[in-house]
Amino acid sequence: MKKHLIAIIGGTGLTEYEGLEVIKTVEAETALGTPSAPLIFGKLQDQDVVFLARHGKAHSVAPHRVNYRANILALKEAGVTQIIAVNAVGGITEKMVSGAICTPDQIIDYTHGRSDTFFDGDYQPLDHVDFSYPYDAQVNAELNQAADQVQVPVESSGVYGATQGPRLETAAEVLRLEKDGCDMVGMTGMPEAVLARELGLPYACLALVVNPAAGKSDQLITMDDIRRVIATGMLDIKKVIAQYLANKR
Ligand code: HPA
Repeated sequence: MKKHLIAIIGGTGLTEYEGLEVIKTVEAETALGTPSAPLIFGKLQDQDVVFLARHGKAHSVAPHRVNYRANILALKEAGVTQIIAVNAVGGITEKMVSGAICTPDQIIDYTHGRSDTFFDGDYQPLDHVDFSYPYDAQVNAELNQAADQVQVPVESSGVYGATQGPRLETAAEVLRLEKDGCDMVGMTGMPEAVLARELGLPYACLALVVNPAAGKSDQLITMDDIRRVIATGMLDIKKVIAQYLANKR
């Protein structure tokens, strides 16, 4: 059987993966530039994994400035066979309260001006990939099964609205996202997901709701509140990932 090498892309609140037994750190370079951070190769639950901090080691790379193409290409070139992305999001619909976790199954992309394809006619010839179902259904199902095993509630479907950032949305923008059918809003879901698809890498997302989206509460959205939710929510996310990997043994 082909050996799998699972990448975990950590977002806000997960720039370091505590508990990862680090084997080596690689300063990768690609034909499309430098990834956000060195690739950390290690073991979790006896499985080989690669960790990449999406916003850099110091959490200093803004969502619209992440070199998503270099990140995904570096993972592919490192032999990664599958990606689990961890994303902090704002909650829009009822179930998406702070602390909720969801494996989204759809995306609406509102970002602009990002380098969002390998098939641009420069790096690779023009091509059009199917993206009807942006997340890998099997990985999603396996993540949900793992979540059940460790009794972490996870919403098994939802629509991720990807916005440009780094500013948060206006209340009217969130209302529009809701009308469009978005359950959550984040700044980094795209183009990461489509780039993984273009390189044939099964990709799934564990989205942690860290605040009510703009206009969904009468409180200001503060980074302090977000950090508090992240502190406990990321522990739940890591429990799910650990069980998911344990199931692969
Ligand atoms: N909007 C966009 N991205 C986010 C949010 C939000 O409210 N919370 C965390 N990431």
